[in-house]
Amino acid sequence: MGTKNRDYAVKDIALAHLGRRQVSMAADEMPGLMALRKEYGREKPLAGARIMGSLHMTCETAVLIETLVELGARVRWASSNIFSTNDGAAAAIAQAGIPVFAIKGESLTEYWEFAQKALTWPDGEGPDLIVDDGGDAAVLLHQGYEAEQGKSLDALVATEDGRALKATIKKTLDSDSTFFSRAIKRLRGLSEETTTGVMRLLQLHKEEKLLFPAYNVNDAVTKSKFDNTYGARESLVDAIKRATDIMVAGKSALVCGFGHVGKGAAEALAAHKARVLISEVDPICGLQALMAGYSLVNVEKVLPQVDIIVTATGNKDVITVEHMRQMKDCSILCNIGHFDCEIQMAELNALKGVEREVIKPQTSRYTLPEGHSIYILAEGRLVNLGCATGHPSFVMSTSFTNQVLAQLALWQKKHNIGVFELDKKSDEYVARLHLAKLGGSLTELTSEQANYIGVPQSGPFKENSYRY
Ligand code: NAD
Ligand code: ADE
Repeated sequence: MGTKNRDYAVKDIALAHLGRRQVSMAADEMPGLMALRKEYGREKPLAGARIMGSLHMTCETAVLIETLVELGARVRWASSNIFSTNDGAAAAIAQAGIPVFAIKGESLTEYWEFAQKALTWPDGEGPDLIVDDGGDAAVLLHQGYEAEQGKSLDALVATEDGRALKATIKKTLDSDSTFFSRAIKRLRGLSEETTTGVMRLLQLHKEEKLLFPAYNVNDAVTKSKFDNTYGARESLVDAIKRATDIMVAGKSALVCGFGHVGKGAAEALAAHKARVLISEVDPICGLQALMAGYSLVNVEKVLPQVDIIVTATGNKDVITVEHMRQMKDCSILCNIGHFDCEIQMAELNALKGVEREVIKPQTSRYTLPEGHSIYILAEGRLVNLGCATGHPSFVMSTSFTNQVLAQLALWQKKHNIGVFELDKKSDEYVARLHLAKLGGSLTELTSEQANYIGVPQSGPFKENSYRY
């Protein structure tokens, strides 16, 4: 645990040496971020900017943080999940003098307190910019602001997470009754990393409650088509195997949700020779699953036969306690979506007669009243970051290059309140920065060819409606 009076909270600062070596290895695989350091490192376009981050504190995130610093920003960071921190990477960042508040296995109370610490600069004021993942920094600011205006936070107390958030807001307001309104006034904007966070921002905007400008980084093609799909394709099975050592070949695996993440998850399980089943609510994604050769099924009909169940929907109650009661003995249940509410974990933990045995951190066996057992990974939280180290560095470089470009856009030009996307030129730029590392060589359009298909010779090469 971090020492009192130090402006960080990490598991053990002595892990910094090990963490630093891992971060430098990650940097070697992150050509986009390295190219931005080279292009902007001298000019320091983020000079003067205070950036708060709420995003999984991994080795890849350490490379992002140090890129923002190299571009001139001052940074404070917290993780966006209680299980996703790499303690070595966090220690390396703290050792470098960057305030970071993240410990793998932190409690929910610590989680929200760490977010608040990352949000609060030593002069008692907030950041100019935020990098958010899943919307928790945005929620803290919005709920804190509403509480400051006198709105009751009682709606939050239905969940353990909400109770911890409420306690943090109350503690903040007890010591500084106008913190949140000042923080919102100062904030130039936020860039959001993931599907679920974007959904939360769009809902706020629709209800006319959004309090600051925001960039939707997730929907850059070089983010969602890469990180969500190709990242999940590598990190999901890695996590299942680290947690259980199970043989995937020959097993029957159900993936709930065939969006960006579900497509990568299904492909990886199929590549390991599992028989893959998909559940979907959207007919387009359902038809895509069938065209990819998977079976499209109803969860209830297949549960007694499946060995591995993965939720990847960004929705809630996808796997209920009633479902768990019908599962096959020794089946494995996990979630790769952003929040643990995809699986009814709170309801399972409250179920009378259920027994839980911790096999090792983030791998538990639950024995249900009916007598059968199921293995639940990372307590239903995102399995690839809870049971493994998340997506590989290379694909995180595509995501995080977009993040840096969004931060630059917010810092260099004042935006109105709204949810914005990076343009296609920027998307193509991010892709271009990653080609050489993989030995790729692009073909150049001749001017005649460019005229014939009606695009500029140097891009953008597609209309915004193109879906890749
Ligand atoms: P997406 O919108 O592309 O896909 C989700 C799919 O789930 C959609 O096709 C939707 O129709 C389907 N769905 C919704 N409710 C369903 C239900 N009840 N049953 C079956 N299917 C249902 O979103 P995405 O980009 O694939 O992201 C999914 C989740 O994963 C989000 O929470 C996102 O934030 C998260 N995410 C996690 C990681 C990670 O590293 N763990 C990375 C990226 C995204
Ligand atoms: N999301 C998925 N994988 C990640 C990683 N390695 N670092 C940060 N965020 C992630």
